[in-house]
Amino acid sequence: MIERWLEALVATPGLTSVTGEDARRVHVDESLAALDVIRQFDGPIVDVGSGGGAPGIPLAVALPEREVTLLESSRRKCEFLERWARELPNARVVCGRAEEQPLDSWEVAVAKALAPPTVAAEWCLPLVAPGGAAILYAGPSAEGARVARVAGQLGAELAESPPGLLVLRKLEPTPAGFPRRPGVARKRPLA
Ligand SMILES: C[S@@+](CC[C@H](N)C(=O)[O-])C[C@H]1O[C@@H](n2cnc3c(N)ncnc32)[C@H](O)[C@@H]1O
Repeated sequence: MIERWLEALVATPGLTSVTGEDARRVHVDESLAALDVIRQFDGPIVDVGSGGGAPGIPLAVALPEREVTLLESSRRKCEFLERWARELPNARVVCGRAEEQPLDSWEVAVAKALAPPTVAAEWCLPLVAPGGAAILYAGPSAEGARVARVAGQLGAELAESPPGLLVLRKLEPTPAGFPRRPGVARKRPLA
C-alpha cells in the first residue's frame, strides 16, 4: 500500500516537490524516523498539515494499533488523503486548521514541513493532552532555544530529542489565550 501511495503522491500535481529517487527517503524513511519517540507515548496521533500524507500515512501503516488523524487545511489535499485513509482502518482525515481543533485531545502531534518550527510548535501543542508530546521534524534546525521559549508559553518543555527532531513534552493543559486566531502565529511569532 505504501508503494501505491508514494507513486500517487509524486504523480499528483501540487502535492510535493520531492520526486524521483529522493521521494522514498523524504516521504517514507524520514516519516518513520520518529517511530521510536512516538512509541514512548500511548494513544492517538495527529499529523498536523499532513499535505499528501507524510508523515501520517507511513506512521498509520507502521503503527496499526494507533489511531492516526490526518489534519489538513486544504480541501483539495484532504480529498487525496481521504482516498488513502479509506484503505487504513486506523486513519481518518479532518479537513480544517490546527487552530480550530479541540484542545488537549491527542497524545502525540507530529508535523513535517508545516511551518517554521516556532510556528509549528504553537499550532501543535494546544492539540496535545498533558503527558503527551508534539514532535517536530525540524531537520538540522538551529531553532531549539526559540522553540523551547514557545513551548514554555504553551505549558510544555523541550525534551532531549534525536537528531532532526524536536520533542516538546506537554506538561500542563493549554493556557488561556491559546490557540491564537488563525494566521496570528505566523504574523507575530511567540519567539
Ligand atoms: C509544505 S506542506 C507539508 C506537507 C507534509 N507534511 C509533507 O511533509 O510533505 C504543509 C501543509 O500544511 C497545511 N497547513 C498549513 N497551515 C495549516 C494549519 N494551520 N492547519 C492545518 N494545515 C495547515 C498546508 O495546506 C500544507 O498542505
